[in-house]
Amino acid sequence: MKIISNPLELKEYLKENKKTVGFVPTMGALHEGHISLINRASEENEIVVVSIFVNPTQFLEGEDLDKYPSREEADKKICSFAGVDILFFPNADDIYTSDEVTLQAPNVRGYVLEGLSRPGHFSGVLTVVMKLLNIVSPTRAYFGKKDAQQINLIMLMVKQLFMSVEIVPIDTVRESDGLALSSRNIYLNKYDREEALKISASLHVCSRMVSRNILDSCEIIDSMRETLYPLEVIYVEILNRDFEKLEQVEIGNSIVLVEAISGETRLLDNIWL
Ligand code: PAF
Repeated sequence: MKIISNPLELKEYLKENKKTVGFVPTMGALHEGHISLINRASEENEIVVVSIFVNPTQFLEGEDLDKYPSREEADKKICSFAGVDILFFPNADDIYTSDEVTLQAPNVRGYVLEGLSRPGHFSGVLTVVMKLLNIVSPTRAYFGKKDAQQINLIMLMVKQLFMSVEIVPIDTVRESDGLALSSRNIYLNKYDREEALKISASLHVCSRMVSRNILDSCEIIDSMRETLYPLEVIYVEILNRDFEKLEQVEIGNSIVLVEAISGETRLLDNIWL
């Protein structure tokens, strides 16, 4: 596995490449969820590039940028073991200068749900993803479905800016008790982790109600909020593919999304209905 930190060196290295490239952008602290992205990228492409970059512009003032989990050596081993060809490991000043051209997340879709409680977060995500895609020029890029709003916005960016990469969403990987894998799960103590299970439990409540043909969004969301109690709920929403609110679940065209805080850790989860 080749490790490169300089964006121009990576671009130069890939310039003559005629092979298909699968790209997995990450912020490190890799887990089984990332490995499933890497595996899918390996199945579908001749070369796999993984980036590890804790992107400062997607963290708001007071968020966990300074304590975001860093597992450099373990991450390198995971990538090498998983058959990654190139690990891109830049520093902040390899990616950003002091006077930057930036992308602005869309005013509506970028400022609802997670974007409402973290205004500007998605502008930072889109800016860095755009930079990374321009550096790697992949055939396909792989993202986890757990971050449903993030994927939705990245797909919108690719479409609206006429970019030629294919964005591939990959199913959420869960612990055996239902907890969706996330690098931030490391922050959870035993009690908070137990409480966090209410998030996937609330999604089960939703899918059971839908299977009994209860389709009214308010009724479903009320039951989910009861299951989530006493977690601090940031949102529970039922939306269509275009991320518009639905009064009634439309089977095959609906997603239910939850964000809640357990202890001090924000956790996201969702399922398609
Ligand atoms: O999902 C993540 O890990 C990050 O938001 C991403 C896509 C790597 C951009 O920093």
